[in-house]
Amino acid sequence: MLGSDASAGRIARQPLQSSCHDANRTTFVQTLTVALGERSYPIHIGPGLLDQAALITPHLAQPRVAIVTNTTVGPLYLGRLRGVLEGVGVQSLPIVLPDGEQYKDWATLNRIFDALLEHRAERKTTLIALGGGVIGDLTGFAAATYQRGVPFIQVPTTLLAQVDSSVGGKTGINHPLGKNMIGAFWQPRVVLADTDTLNTLPDRELSAGLAEVIKYGLIRDLPFLEWLEANMDRLLARDAQALTYAIYQSCRNKAEVVAADERESGQRALLNLGHTFGHAIEAGMGYGNWLHGEAVAAGTLLAAELSRRMGLISAGDVARIADLFRRANLPIQAPALGVETYLAHMGVDKKVEGGRLRFVLLKKLGEAFVTAEVPEALLKATLSEGTTGLVRT
Ligand SMILES: NC(=O)c1ccc[n+]([C@@H]2O[C@H](COP(=O)([O-])OP(=O)(O)OC[C@H]3O[C@@H](n4cnc5c(N)ncnc54)[C@H](O)[C@@H]3O)[C@@H](O)[C@H]2O)c1
Ligand SMILES: [Zn+2]
Repeated sequence: MLGSDASAGRIARQPLQSSCHDANRTTFVQTLTVALGERSYPIHIGPGLLDQAALITPHLAQPRVAIVTNTTVGPLYLGRLRGVLEGVGVQSLPIVLPDGEQYKDWATLNRIFDALLEHRAERKTTLIALGGGVIGDLTGFAAATYQRGVPFIQVPTTLLAQVDSSVGGKTGINHPLGKNMIGAFWQPRVVLADTDTLNTLPDRELSAGLAEVIKYGLIRDLPFLEWLEANMDRLLARDAQALTYAIYQSCRNKAEVVAADERESGQRALLNLGHTFGHAIEAGMGYGNWLHGEAVAAGTLLAAELSRRMGLISAGDVARIADLFRRANLPIQAPALGVETYLAHMGVDKKVEGGRLRFVLLKKLGEAFVTAEVPEALLKATLSEGTTGLVRT
């Protein structure tokens, strides 16, 4: 699937120019290009990237940036990134926001605009997002709208942000009436996924990111799924080489889907495997109690169980999926919220089209498809028998 140039395979491997001194570490730094015509951009993945100013400077329109981060990630990495940029003559304005999904809102977005205007940031000033998906989404939306659009760079520091939100160009904030309801498509100029930053990530957040990684294998990449089965322990041990490979394959899969379907009309829906059920779990348990990735893991098991009941995959396949999520320290049993509660939460999900709920199901391991043809009785049986009373504390 990897082409030798962007036109053949849409995604091209690029030679790495690295100034890192440890030769062993640089050999497994990877770069892929998200092919979106003139908005194409590189994603660099591997250890030690935060120290490499040369990966950032070619993408700056002026030697001035604003770095948006939060009170958790800032103390860990902001000083280092600012120092590296200062070393090559790039001035940076730090904007440190409170930490949490509840701050992915209009008021916090405005704090970014306040700082940019107070410091007279210009149209050529690049906004750099340093943090997880919350910071990435907020900063990207600020970049899309400040002075009708300024350049944007992502330095994702959670596994979820490195494998998911840094590819695809979706940016935005939450509204009290719905998650991610206000936003824009805005592509970054470059993404730096430094695997070393994952060393400070809490275990639970690492596992939540692995749910999305496993998802890519399940929906379209059996060889990657098999690699994950063989290497899950290395990923949990935060082996930089294994993480680099897993992030690369995840971004490649997402980039291929996005390149074919940037605005989510068809194929892109496959990325929502486990998400319709997962969103119902997140909402039903009260937002914040289950991490998104945890809900996606349990939701994917429900989608797998429904696929089995529809005669698409075997009980052995379901057990194999459960085993992989369990080894990633993710919940495999969805909570018993009650069939009616599930249906109510799923009914308001945004994947509803023309009044019919569309499901992402598995045809086999490594191949998902979208269908609205799901017998109600099988759905209800899955929701009542495929869930337990388990409540994660
Ligand atoms: N734009 C997209 O395509 C897209 C895709 C998926 C998810 N998202 C969004 O991403 C958000 C979730 O992202 P997330 O899971 O990264 O959550 P997050 O940004 O809230 O980060 C999780 C926690 O980890 C902390 N953290 C981040 N990096 C760290 C590090 N290196 N060391 C220690 N702690 C660190 C954060 O401060 C936070 O407390 C949601 O708002 C979701 O809607 C967007
Ligand atoms: Zn997700």
